[in-house]
Amino acid sequence: MSLVLIVLLTCLICYFIHVKWNIFAVGSRIPGPVALPLVGNVQMICKLKPESLFKSIADYRAQFGKSYRLWLGPELWIFLHSPEETREALNDSTLTRPAAFQQLSVLIGNGLLISYGKQWETHRRALNPAFHMNILNSFTHVIAQHGEELVEKLAATECKAIEISDYLFACILDTIIETSMGKELNSLRDPNNRYAHDFHKTSELLFKRMTNPLLGWDFIFKRTNMYREMSASLAVIHQLMTSVVDARIEALKQQQALQIELPSSDALVEGIRKQRRTLLDTLLTTQIDGEQLTRSDICDEVNTFVFAGVDTTTAAMCFVLYSLGKYPLEQQKLLVEIREVVHGELTTEAVNSLTYLDMFLKEVLRFYTVVPLTGRQTTEETVIGGRRYCAGITLWINLYGLAHDERYFDEPHEFRPLRFAQTQSERLPPYVYIPFSGGPHICIGRKYALLIMKIITVQILRKFEVKLRDPAEKLVLQAQMVLKALQGFNLIFLPRLEADTMAA
Ligand code: HEM
Repeated sequence: MSLVLIVLLTCLICYFIHVKWNIFAVGSRIPGPVALPLVGNVQMICKLKPESLFKSIADYRAQFGKSYRLWLGPELWIFLHSPEETREALNDSTLTRPAAFQQLSVLIGNGLLISYGKQWETHRRALNPAFHMNILNSFTHVIAQHGEELVEKLAATECKAIEISDYLFACILDTIIETSMGKELNSLRDPNNRYAHDFHKTSELLFKRMTNPLLGWDFIFKRTNMYREMSASLAVIHQLMTSVVDARIEALKQQQALQIELPSSDALVEGIRKQRRTLLDTLLTTQIDGEQLTRSDICDEVNTFVFAGVDTTTAAMCFVLYSLGKYPLEQQKLLVEIREVVHGELTTEAVNSLTYLDMFLKEVLRFYTVVPLTGRQTTEETVIGGRRYCAGITLWINLYGLAHDERYFDEPHEFRPLRFAQTQSERLPPYVYIPFSGGPHICIGRKYALLIMKIITVQILRKFEVKLRDPAEKLVLQAQMVLKALQGFNLIFLPRLEADTMAA
């Protein structure tokens, strides 16, 4: 017995050395900041706040001018540099999301953001139709209703400087929950809404955990207060999600029964038929190889939409409003276009014909790159950018770095929406401007996010002049790391004198 144990242990040690040896060999050929024996660059990374870590990443990119490495103890992180390497990494089907992303599974189970292989492929194929433009366009009215509620809330602030991210978070959470699940959450009306609070808390704690290598170990994490807090919040989220999904399954069953039992002209049946189709309805009626998605699959995917969609779209809208305040001339140009194109009620067609607004939002997403980095993990030997990588290496794709590379963008640190005028942007090589990532994992909700952003921006501009509390206020680089970092930046909403005529 003891002999078997010794043999097993020796094999394990040999295997470990073999795997790490390959990783060490790859790392030793790539430039990077000086690494200490055993700990590598971990000491430096742990000392940094998430926001200054982001700044260091930008500085290293400038310093090394090509892909570089960081060591986290025995873990090797490579930051890819060029659009070609980015394209190859994003399209390499042998890569998965980094191991740290698995920590999200407590909230989103095996949803799109972390699933891979066959499961990801079949679910992505099944979910794509839920984000078809025809379905999204049918949300215009609901989004506009929530936008209108936001405008009323802003009007009630009576030109005082306010912290905008709380308002936007609640408005976008309400919008995404209603369009994806058909549930009215009303968190903008009720600042003490339990689900909104717990969702916010969970996202914050998950982010804290993912950026702290020590908390990555379950053994340590489960002994912290953070774990207890997160478990309590998760219980509230999962309970709400399950009850909404169950209620919708029941409603769909009743709908089917009524359609069979009652003549089609019956008012009740007609009423139900006319009910808006939510993303959840698409999931409930979707079949994969003749099988329906399970209740748990559906809950995972809807939680994924909320998790992946709310913070990102809220952060993007914070940057939109900040940019309106910072660049009054841009605000003026947008207003002129809105006055020309939008008359009376906001329609999908009008929203889609606002070309300057489209360029402005593209520039906001470039300039502030809401998701500055995304990662991939090698699972087997693969070649990217002519370099051979073994399994077990984390590759970071620097969306922010690419969007600010002066080889592709003139004066990248200038805010210039016109750079996205058709002829100019056509000259951009692929995989340079990828605020929603690229390849098969490109953001499934990108058109949905843009629709929400366009509608809310138009509604705000029709009613208010947006001003920074202090025109010298600077939204520093670090704001891109976490939504929380946006807090403390204040805007003032001055009513437009002609607001009533425009809204008529
Ligand atoms: C401005 C807002 C948004 C930004 C900047 C954004 C950005 C991104 C990025 C960069 C990725 C790819 C990550 C990777 O390649 O590893 C992604 C993936 C994803 N996003 Fe978004 N997103 C936004 C809004 C939304 C919305 C509104 C939803 C859903 C309602 C959504 C759902 C998802 C999902 C499910 C994925 C995973 C896709 C897959 O792996 O197949 N996102 N997003």
